[in-house]
Amino acid sequence: MSLRIGVIGAGNMGTDHVRTLDRQVSGAVVTAVADVDRTRAAEAAAGIPGARAGDDPLALIADPSVDAVLVASVDASHPELILAAVRAGKPVLSEKPLAPTLHACLRLREAVGAKSGLVSLGFMRRFDPGYAQLKAAIATRAVGRPLMLHCVSRGVAAPHGLTTEAAIANSLVHELDVVPWLLGSAVVQVSWQAPTVSSDRRSPLRDPQLVLLRTADGVLTSCETFQNAGYGYDIRCEVVGEAGTMSLAEPARVTTDRNAGGGPGHRAQAYAADWRPRFADAYRLELQAWVDLLTAGRSESRPGAPERVLAGLDDGVRAASVANAVIESLHHDGQPTDVRLLEKRD
Ligand SMILES: NC(=O)c1ccc[n+]([C@@H]2O[C@H](COP(=O)([O-])OP(=O)(O)OC[C@H]3O[C@@H](n4cnc5c(N)ncnc54)[C@H](O)[C@@H]3O)[C@@H](O)[C@H]2O)c1
Repeated sequence: MSLRIGVIGAGNMGTDHVRTLDRQVSGAVVTAVADVDRTRAAEAAAGIPGARAGDDPLALIADPSVDAVLVASVDASHPELILAAVRAGKPVLSEKPLAPTLHACLRLREAVGAKSGLVSLGFMRRFDPGYAQLKAAIATRAVGRPLMLHCVSRGVAAPHGLTTEAAIANSLVHELDVVPWLLGSAVVQVSWQAPTVSSDRRSPLRDPQLVLLRTADGVLTSCETFQNAGYGYDIRCEVVGEAGTMSLAEPARVTTDRNAGGGPGHRAQAYAADWRPRFADAYRLELQAWVDLLTAGRSESRPGAPERVLAGLDDGVRAASVANAVIESLHHDGQPTDVRLLEKRD
């Protein structure tokens, strides 16, 4: 029998996940969609056979026709909804971040206790074919021992009201997970910088930001996060090794060469407008991995096992610890800041 999934949050991500589960993931059906805005839930559930729409996420979690819960509502709602699913004994995959602050992550981990194996987290870059190939190539030392990584994450326009701290906790957090995952080495020290810009200084967002990470293996990683880059959604990652370099290739599938009218010709590639087309494969593969894990009856087995690519609760806490250190560095004029290891004591 197919795994019956309830999706909470029917905005951009939730609606996308409902469609992906329905059309591209085997072994699962969407039976319920809940959003505090019922109209959104109804729109997301429309056309999905047997899916009911509602406005009460806790009722969805309690619904006996829901075996597993996917949380794609706003960041602040994640801890309460994850905990409610765990208390109902249901596996839950939450969008990142685990919670908006490290404090909230730690409180959630405490409350979840021994049931942490029920919790998976949507750090989907681990499923992106490009990042997966980079990880495998780093492991086989394809360009020798890694020395540096250069990561770039650019978007078209920052969401209204985004603060510098929230950009770190919500957006940079992808790099804070994927870099240690690529290298197999924890981030131990960070520092934060930002250039002087000519735009509105009263903005609550310093943009772009440049963050340096040092992992325990001695590799240095630069992370540019630029919310208002304007031209498109652009994700880059270059590994500089002792014997060469390797990078994620441009994900665009079409290159256009055209005469610009008399002068020299132009070569152009279109960028995605946001993360959904860029990481469509990653979302699909992540959802399939989650469904496969649950249908194989291994939802609570070895959350830290090396073969488990899917991120879990501890990965969320780890990334939040690094984000917290970056925010500390931001508040102390870019001072290098150690990441406090907050591994679970059990
Ligand atoms: N993995 C990724 O690449 C990625 C990309 C973008 C967003 N996200 C994450 O996905 C989540 C959703 O982002 P989005 O872009 O879809 O946002 P969105 O604003 O488009 O949608 C959020 C939805 O959540 C609903 N909501 C708010 N509180 C709720 C609650 N308590 N219960 C039920 N529904 C509630 C809102 O009504 C809204 O429809 C966020 O946590 C975000 O950080 C992840």
